[in-house]
Amino acid sequence: MGERRNNIEGNAGGDEKELSPKPMTTLSLHYFADESEKLAFSISIIENIEEEYGLYVWPCSVILAEYVWQQRLRFSGASVVELGAGTSLPGLVAAKVGADVTLTDNATRPEVLDNMSRVCDLNKLKCNVLGLTWGIWDASIFSLNPKIILGADVFYEASAFDDLFATVTFLLQSSPGSVFITTYHNRSGHHLIEFLMVKWGLKCMKLLDGFSFMPSYKVSGLSGNIQLAELALDRKSAEETLSSSVT
Ligand SMILES: C[S@@+](CC[C@H](N)C(=O)[O-])C[C@H]1O[C@@H](n2cnc3c(N)ncnc32)[C@H](O)[C@@H]1O
Repeated sequence: MGERRNNIEGNAGGDEKELSPKPMTTLSLHYFADESEKLAFSISIIENIEEEYGLYVWPCSVILAEYVWQQRLRFSGASVVELGAGTSLPGLVAAKVGADVTLTDNATRPEVLDNMSRVCDLNKLKCNVLGLTWGIWDASIFSLNPKIILGADVFYEASAFDDLFATVTFLLQSSPGSVFITTYHNRSGHHLIEFLMVKWGLKCMKLLDGFSFMPSYKVSGLSGNIQLAELALDRKSAEETLSSSVT
């Protein structure tokens, strides 16, 4: 019971005159089972066979989705926002276990947002789909008030970290007691993440090796040194930092 990918469209081997062939699209199936490995449900994802940001299920997403499933009691009935959701596996699992979910990604990438809507329909799940670019304060962000914010593999481009933290801090402030749960590759940039966490007045509530809670049947296709962190607001300084940055 691992992940399975089936090609569903694409034009590789098609018209030879095509100068820039569309990436092959595939349907991947992701299984979620209880402790006795009894299948609870599966989620289908439309993704590109080529690794493309926002249109590919990255390992961090598989790990965060499994964590959501294992922590499902926390998610049932909670308001959840996924940032940089891409193919949206963690958010879809949250919706499946009863959360009220808003899936978001860069507002300048309509192809990613369209794919999110297609994937929701495919799984018969009702989620809000929203263009939300980190560090940009569109009106829609003011009414989100999430209890749980999710972000899988959103720390990959250091130049975007500050904007991401600004958005996360804003959302945490808008909903007292809320938490940001993220999975990320523990690369050299993680010192920068720790520095920015302190700068934005956040604290780490939990830090796990991403593979420590993964069932063995899911681990084979995954690689990397992936961590899962739960961050929350630490002190009032976050408020001061935010107000000086947003203006
Ligand atoms: C490495 S992909 C991870 C996608 C998905 N969470 C996963 O793990 O499969 C990073 C995601 O962040 C989104 N992203 C990058 N920069 C962004 C920005 N400035 N604002 C909002 N989303 C952004 C990308 O479009 C992409 O979907």
